[in-house]
Amino acid sequence: MSKPRFITFEGIDGSGKSTQARRFADHLRGQGGDVVLTREPGGSPGAEEIRQLLLTGDTDRWSAETEILLFTAARRDHLEKTIQPALALDKTVVSDRFADSTRIYQGATRGDLREMVDKLHSLMIGREPDLTFIIDMDPATALERGLARKSGEDRFEDFGLAFQETLRHGFLALAHANTDRCVLIDGNRTADQIASEIAAYA
Ligand code: ADP
Ligand code: TYD
Repeated sequence: MSKPRFITFEGIDGSGKSTQARRFADHLRGQGGDVVLTREPGGSPGAEEIRQLLLTGDTDRWSAETEILLFTAARRDHLEKTIQPALALDKTVVSDRFADSTRIYQGATRGDLREMVDKLHSLMIGREPDLTFIIDMDPATALERGLARKSGEDRFEDFGLAFQETLRHGFLALAHANTDRCVLIDGNRTADQIASEIAAYA
């Protein structure tokens, strides 16, 4: 298999995605790679503005359907302005979250909206990562870690523990259904242990 060029990190809130995405990008750079480290929602100026709308305010600020539209709009801008230009220049793109987050957070938590997510994805995005690390861990520990950050962007953490449990099962099912690109990572370990397992995929 040729080297993966578009790599994503997925998992529940506080599972260690940002930490591991940054460490993997650093590892690739240490090997001489030209790497763009990015994130969703966001990753381009327009998408970062949409991020603020999505991550602040009350849990009932947006319905799941409206969220699907906003996350997909942000993703389209991220793809046009950041991801595609980097890939066209032969760079490697490492993204903290991508479309799998919409499949699970919007598609499988508040009713079964997965078909709607998939239709909009194929219409507006039409691209999957070459490789996805799904970090699995205990939601109670992850939620503690996430809320301890006090980022002010806690709208999804505020849905509570049962919501995070539903997300966890959604991500596990997604990993099992997409073994061609997904690797399940045990996040209940030290950051160093996790990083060295992931580094083997460089
Ligand atoms: P995410 O991007 O999935 O929300 P972060 O990487 O931001 O997760 O990690 C959430 C918090 O937990 C941060 O404060 C981070 O320093 C800490 N953290 C990350 N990985 C680990 C780990 N393996 N063990 C303990 N704490 C961790
Ligand atoms: P992120 O900043 O990665 O949060 P965390 O560090 O807590 O994991 O992502 C922001 C939030 O947005 C997170 O709670 C997950 C949510 N989200 C969705 O609901 N759908 C999406 O498509 C994306 C990309 C994120």
